[in-house]
Amino acid sequence: MTDCFLNFDISLIVNLLFSVSGCDGRRVVGQTGQNVTLPCNYDIKTKGAVHVCWGRGEIPKSKCNNQLLSTDGHKVETRASSRYQLLGRLDEGDVSLTILILTEEDAGRYGCRAEIPGWFSDEKHHVDLTVERAADSVVLKSSPFTSSSSRSADHREPPDFLF
Ligand SMILES: *[C@@H]1O[C@H](CO)[C@@H](O)[C@H](O)[C@H]1NC(C)=O
Repeated sequence: MTDCFLNFDISLIVNLLFSVSGCDGRRVVGQTGQNVTLPCNYDIKTKGAVHVCWGRGEIPKSKCNNQLLSTDGHKVETRASSRYQLLGRLDEGDVSLTILILTEEDAGRYGCRAEIPGWFSDEKHHVDLTVERAADSVVLKSSPFTSSSSRSADHREPPDFLF
């Protein structure tokens, strides 16, 4: 990823200038009770399979904070809970983290670190997860005041007892 090559102190300045966009802080929105996938890929073709960890919060100088899951690049080594899964193609460098059955406590910043051998060569990606309450959208969908144009006119099953 050429857009994520800055690892020295200058990256602090760059982060301050571009703290909302750039390679840092992709945004993902999920709903409570649903699964959500936080994207992360590394260059496995040129770097080979490497150790990757996922943690919560900012990615520290080494390893991961509050580690949720780690992989040797081929299989999952550790996970803090069975809700954390790698369902992507590990052999293609897809180490996206799937969180099952989201709760509101899952909202926040996550960090993915691929430990590429060499000084300052780790690939690091932040993902900011927003969790919407599923109950809110149920209320919206069933509200008589919302437009029904997206859902074709009321489609009700005839009650069985009529027959
Ligand atoms: C969440 O993922 C699990 C495991 O892949 C799957 O069994 C389940 O059906 C998924 N749930 C939803 C709501 O998609």
